[in-house]
Amino acid sequence: MTDLATRFVRPAILRVAHHPWFRHLATRTAPGRAVASRFVAGETLAEAMAAARDLDRQRITAMLDHLGENVTTPDQALAARQAYLAALAAIAEADTLDCAISVKLTQLGLDEGLETGMANLTPILDAAAEAGTRVEIDMESHGYVDATLEAAAAAYTRYPKVGLAMQAYLRRTAGDLDRLPGGMRVRLVKGSYLEPPHVVFTDKREVDRSWARLFTTLLARGHPIDAATHDPSLIEGVRRRVGAVENGWSRVEFQMLYGVRRDLQASLAREGYPVRVYIPYGTEWYPYLTRRLAERPANLWFFASNLLRSAK
Ligand code: FDA
Repeated sequence: MTDLATRFVRPAILRVAHHPWFRHLATRTAPGRAVASRFVAGETLAEAMAAARDLDRQRITAMLDHLGENVTTPDQALAARQAYLAALAAIAEADTLDCAISVKLTQLGLDEGLETGMANLTPILDAAAEAGTRVEIDMESHGYVDATLEAAAAAYTRYPKVGLAMQAYLRRTAGDLDRLPGGMRVRLVKGSYLEPPHVVFTDKREVDRSWARLFTTLLARGHPIDAATHDPSLIEGVRRRVGAVENGWSRVEFQMLYGVRRDLQASLAREGYPVRVYIPYGTEWYPYLTRRLAERPANLWFFASNLLRSAK
C-alpha cells in the first residue's frame, strides 16, 4: 500500500464497510459473494479442508481460521468452540496434513471477560495438545491487546505449541515483546484494524520499519517466528536475516493469506522455504472481507466493477 492509501483510503473503506447498505451489497449480491470467494475458502469445514489439501499438493502447509469475532451471546462463543473442536478432529483424521488452527479470542467470548474467553479456549488447547496441533491466537483491535497477551501467556503454560500474532503498526508492540514468555511462537503482522493515529504508525514506511525491527528482535531472542506478510521487500529481508542464522529456517516460516499473492506463495514453496497459508472459512466472513478490501483499494474497484457489470 502507498502511504496515501494507508493514511486515507484504508480508513475510509473500513468506515464505509460499517454501513448496512454496504454490508448488504457484499453479502447478498452475487458480485459481493464472488469477491468474498477469492479470500474465503467456503462456508464449511469440508471446503476449508479441501483448500488445505490443495495447498499440501504444492508443499504449502495450512492454518484454519473459523471466521467470527465479537460474539454477543454465550451460545455463539460455545458454537465457535465446537467448530474448532470439529476442525481439530478433521485435522487429526487427515493425519498426513500439516494444518494448524488460528482463533480470535472475541469469538470465544472475550467481550464477556477473560475468564469466559479462557473457559472456551482451554478445551480447544487440550484437544490440540492431544492431537499435537499448533494453535495460534490472532491479535484484534488495540483495546484487546492486554487481555490477549495475558491469555496467550496462560495458554502457553498449558500448551507450548501456542503462538500469538503481534502487530507492527501498534506503537506499543516493541514494548510488548518484553511481556512474551521466552520461546513463544510469534506471528508478526503489520495489522489490519481501523485504529486511531495515537495508537498506530500511520505512515506505511514507519509500519514497514517497525515490522523489520520487531522481526530482528524476535530472531535475536530465539522466538519461533511466522513472517506473516506478502510484502516482497520485507520477505527479502527475512530471507537474508534468517539465512545468516545457524538453523534459522528451523524456527521461521512464511505465512500468507488464502487468495493473496498465490504466485509468491507457490514460488517460495518451490524454492524450499517453509510457507503456511491462513485459510478462513465459515458463514461470518463479512468483517474479514472488509479488512481484505481495505488493504488494497484495487480489490474494491474489482468489487465495484463486478457490481456495475451485473447491474447492466
Ligand atoms: P501490504 O499491505 O503492504 O501488502 C504487500 C503486498 O501484498 C501488496 O502490495 C499486495 O500485492 C499484496 N496484498 C496485501 N494484502 C492484499 C489484499 N488484501 N488483497 C490483494 N493483495 C494484497 N492482522 C491483524 O491485525 N491480526 C492478525 O492476527 C492477523 N493475522 C494474519 C495472519 C496471516 C497469516 C497474514 C498473512 C496476515 C494477518 N493479518 C493479521 C493481516 C496483516 O495485518 C495485514 O493486514 C496483511 O497481511 C497485509 O499486509 P502485508 O504485510 O501483506 O503488506
